[in-house]
Amino acid sequence: MKKVKKAIIPAAGLGTRFLPATKAMPKEMLPIVDRPTIEYIVEEAIQSGIEEIIIVTGKGKRAIEDHFDRNFELEDNLAKKGKHDLLAKINQSSQVEIHYIRQKEPKGLGHAVWCARKFIGDEPFAVLLGDDIVQSEVPCTKQLIEQYEQTQSSVIGVQTVSDEETNRYGIIDPSGKEDRLYQVNQFVEKPALGTAPSNLAIMGRYVLSPEIFQFLEKQETGAGGEIQLTDAIQKLNELENVYAYDFEGIRYDVGEKLGFIRTTIEFALENEEFGPQVEELLKEILAKRSFTQV
Ligand code: G1P
Repeated sequence: MKKVKKAIIPAAGLGTRFLPATKAMPKEMLPIVDRPTIEYIVEEAIQSGIEEIIIVTGKGKRAIEDHFDRNFELEDNLAKKGKHDLLAKINQSSQVEIHYIRQKEPKGLGHAVWCARKFIGDEPFAVLLGDDIVQSEVPCTKQLIEQYEQTQSSVIGVQTVSDEETNRYGIIDPSGKEDRLYQVNQFVEKPALGTAPSNLAIMGRYVLSPEIFQFLEKQETGAGGEIQLTDAIQKLNELENVYAYDFEGIRYDVGEKLGFIRTTIEFALENEEFGPQVEELLKEILAKRSFTQV
């Protein structure tokens, strides 16, 4: 059985939800405390045993390439000042080889993944979406790879969402369950409210067999007028088993404003260096607000 060694990180989206912040800066570079969101995703891939990553970029995304490149001038400057902690931090992602390809037209997630087909070749691979950061004991992608190794089939990461949220995600229609692993009748992209077959939503983590590319190649546009990865996964599911795995861990939605703000606050509170100070700050701010509102 071939091992999962490669990962695709789609990062070509326009980031319209965060305008004007994302007018000249990729949304993947928006920081959660002191690290761009995409660094958390790359780190999860590395900790899951991924050896090579391809980031699918688009117009205006050059800052991502610069971020993962070496910056000798900066390194030299930090070394001379004895700032070795910072030096180690800026080179954290250099243990993995990162490649880039451009998605020339914004045709959707399915198309972005298809753009990386030549890099993937005939191997199983992981996909990690940047809108979801997962904190867990065993990295989320690693959990999926373990399931892939047991089932020898594609595995999609899912978690439960509320009824009101089902129209924002790919949703599964499960047919059987063993522990946290589901067999799936159908994968549906963003079903209209009240029509979702379950509350189990696709959470931006996938391990896929390369057979998916034959379906992405021919995939017609679906929800939102885009080529949807979920639709191609459903076709793959008709050819060979595709499982869903209810992974362990807390998932942070950094793809929309409130989720982003919440993640920033939670990560700041957890920060070893200044977490307790942030807690004091928050208390102070809230106390001041309730005082002025009386
Ligand atoms: C994408 C996928 C969807 C998945 C979601 C997770 O949607 O198409 O199936 O549930 O990511 O974040 P998007 O958020 O890009 O609209």
